[in-house]
Amino acid sequence: MDPLIVASDLHKSFGSTHAVKGVSLSVRAGEAYGLVGPDGAGKTTTMRLLVGALSPDAGTAQVGGFDLQLRTEEARAGLGYLPQRFSLYGDLTVVENLQFFAQVRGVGSADFVKRAAELFKFVGLEGFEHRRADQLSGGMKQKLGLACALVHQPKVLLLDEPTGGVDPVTRQDFWQLIIRLLTEGTAVIISTPYMDEAARCSRIGFMHTGRLLVEGTLRELTASMAGRVLELAAHPKDTVKRTALADPDVEDVLTFGDRFHLRVKEAAGPLARLPGALAEAGATVERLRSVPPALEDVFISLLASSAKGN
Ligand SMILES: Nc1ncnc2c1ncn2[C@@H]1O[C@H](COP(=O)(O)OP(=O)(O)OP(=O)(O)O)[C@@H](O)[C@H]1O
Ligand SMILES: [Mg+2]
Repeated sequence: MDPLIVASDLHKSFGSTHAVKGVSLSVRAGEAYGLVGPDGAGKTTTMRLLVGALSPDAGTAQVGGFDLQLRTEEARAGLGYLPQRFSLYGDLTVVENLQFFAQVRGVGSADFVKRAAELFKFVGLEGFEHRRADQLSGGMKQKLGLACALVHQPKVLLLDEPTGGVDPVTRQDFWQLIIRLLTEGTAVIISTPYMDEAARCSRIGFMHTGRLLVEGTLRELTASMAGRVLELAAHPKDTVKRTALADPDVEDVLTFGDRFHLRVKEAAGPLARLPGALAEAGATVERLRSVPPALEDVFISLLASSAKGN
């Protein structure tokens, strides 16, 4: 099966800021590609290049086999996009907002009524059609944004932090919608600050300063650090952190809720030494054990090695 969206060596600068430096990726029908990375990594710029909202300085993008630069109309017809700063018309109703996007997307008025009913049912906005958009909750606004992005039945959907600032229950609802779209064969690219969301994607790309540092399935990405993460539950925090970092095989100490994740060169040494060292420093240890790496562990380790220039 051919990919529905392909980016090849995309570059984009804004003045002296090289925002996207040679990004290549491809996504097939039914796949969700998760784009993660710190603020300013270039995620939004990549998406804007992929929808043709920006022209690349170099590189190409294809949607459904059509080159975005050469066959712009055909390529864009297959794309739906929910921007990071999506703006609805607050003084228009839910249905009027959708109608606006339908007109922009060339959905005929004969088809609109049926399509609107389907979409409102799909996103769970049935019964809210005549509410003003500025009276919707944050989560409902995002669902309306998704409906607007889907109005012309695109095969490729780009979602730029669609669940940012949305409550956990609505985030869950939103993912159920994404999963249904994937089942129907849509190709999805989604950027997210939430690692649990990234972990749900078929593949995850980690961006930093304009580059895709790494790409792979959750299993591939975490396998690279197998055996190198220890979970430590102990207090007081400052003593624990200082003592753990003093161990020669501990590279980093991350706070994970009420626990720590230690990134280690190898596990056996710290597992043997730390209980004694922590007790001696006056800390109370509830738990120290080897755990499977989380995505955060992988990405923070990558950032640390890219900062060292490796
Ligand atoms: N229109 C623009 N003009 C000038 N600089 C820009 C423009 N758009 C983006 N940039 C710069 O390009 C870089 C990448 O920004 P981008 O918005 O793509 O990052 P991001 O990964 O989406 O960040 P965030 O997680 O904060 O949304 C940043 O340094 C940003 O300041
Ligand atoms: Mg962004």
